[in-house]
Amino acid sequence: MEASFKQTTNNKAERYRLFLPQFENLISGEKEEISVLANTASALREAFGFFWVGFYLVKNEQLILGPFQGSIACYRISKGRGVCGTSWNEARSLIVPDVEQFPGHIACSSLSRSEIVVPILVNGQVKGVLDIDSDQLNSFDETDRHYLEEITTILAKTLYY
Ligand code: SME
Repeated sequence: MEASFKQTTNNKAERYRLFLPQFENLISGEKEEISVLANTASALREAFGFFWVGFYLVKNEQLILGPFQGSIACYRISKGRGVCGTSWNEARSLIVPDVEQFPGHIACSSLSRSEIVVPILVNGQVKGVLDIDSDQLNSFDETDRHYLEEITTILAKTLYY
């Protein structure tokens, strides 16, 4: 199996639109959670060059570090803590333009400046979160939210139904 997720256009929405069918093709026919999330993190990193991209999964009332691409990260996040724990608690996506302005932000890397966290929802229940960090301020907007929510919806349908 070989796939190239490298992209040429600088238009963000267009990048996501090109990414989606390749991504669906990549994960179709596989339901092994860790494997699918690992390939998803890799594909997102390759297509968008994210500084850190990965998953935290809900297990025993905590978020536990799952597959990711980037430097080492903290293992466990409690409900309501940091951006990830708040996204879990509120069952909604969070865009943080400047992590220093987010009360309780958990700094896994001192180079991280902005962040987006999108929950993986199954019947309103959070199974985990997709967390993406940037080393630049203001990297994420409604376009990211829209398409990343589409990606987590596809993941939920593939893995948990
Ligand atoms: N910054 C996140 C923690 C996870 S790391 O960024 C990979 C947070 O505040 O939830």
